[in-house]
Amino acid sequence: MKVTVVGAGAVGASCAEYIAIKDFASEIVLIDIKEGFAEGKAMDLMQTASLNGFDSKIIGTTGDYTKTAGSKVAVITSGIPRKPGMTREELISTNAGIVKSVAENLIKHSPDLIIIVVSNPMDTMTYLAHKVLGLPKNSIIGMGGALDSARFKYRLSEALGCPASDVDGMVIGGHSDTGMIPLIRLATRNSVPVSRFLDDDKLNNVLEATKVGGATLTRLLGTSAWYAPGAAVSAMVHAIACDTKKMFPCSCLLEGAYGLNDLSIGVPAIIGANGIEEIVEIELDAAEKAKLEESAAAVRKTNDILSEMNII
Ligand code: LAC
Repeated sequence: MKVTVVGAGAVGASCAEYIAIKDFASEIVLIDIKEGFAEGKAMDLMQTASLNGFDSKIIGTTGDYTKTAGSKVAVITSGIPRKPGMTREELISTNAGIVKSVAENLIKHSPDLIIIVVSNPMDTMTYLAHKVLGLPKNSIIGMGGALDSARFKYRLSEALGCPASDVDGMVIGGHSDTGMIPLIRLATRNSVPVSRFLDDDKLNNVLEATKVGGATLTRLLGTSAWYAPGAAVSAMVHAIACDTKKMFPCSCLLEGAYGLNDLSIGVPAIIGANGIEEIVEIELDAAEKAKLEESAAAVRKTNDILSEMNII
């Protein structure tokens, strides 16, 4: 199975590396606009094959989309990342045009493609890809919730003093500092509600640290993070490639689910060979419902900028 990763920057390269290490793709195409960059990253990664024990072939290209032909999955990481102090939403004026043209180029060569969008503001870029391409709604997925949930589990494991593998939990809502909704009520340590171990103050700290997970890293690194974003995307690509039906919170185009319409936002979904195989509607309490509506309103506000920019 062939996978394309658009953007050979830190997130794209990490994603390609994790996909290669899991060794389920026959070919991984890295594509970037910077002359020679994707070729260099691909060559560097290929030189790890004998060390890391994978057989996937990684090739790089400077903007030649014919090389992506026949891909089953493509990941869009293109565009600029945020700098310390910036919100994801501030990236829209640069990234919208880039994501639009990337999506159009991809689909020319791989009409049955499933696309995972990583570029920020992610929910709006996912919506943009839907509007521009008009593909079936299961075919375009935004990555955010998978990453935010991994960060939630990290923060929970830190507070609980246990391995992250002992923890289960998910984050729904928009992939933004204010829009994320870590579902504390449903989080467990090996099936036991986390409230059995952590008091309200500690739970609130986990919640707040999760929401600014990306911003905290951007401050520390001077640019946005790449290992966890790369790992989150590669886990989703794996679920599609191997038809695992694994459940991820991710940005889905909603047509009535959760009482929402005509926007992409993070909700739990089953991911398999057809991309989004099912949106899983769970019972939210009144406070969670209100937060999801608030988060959806913020995503819509960012989506509105697309028409103001004449992008859609
Ligand atoms: C982050 C970027 C990928 O949260 O949005 O690190």
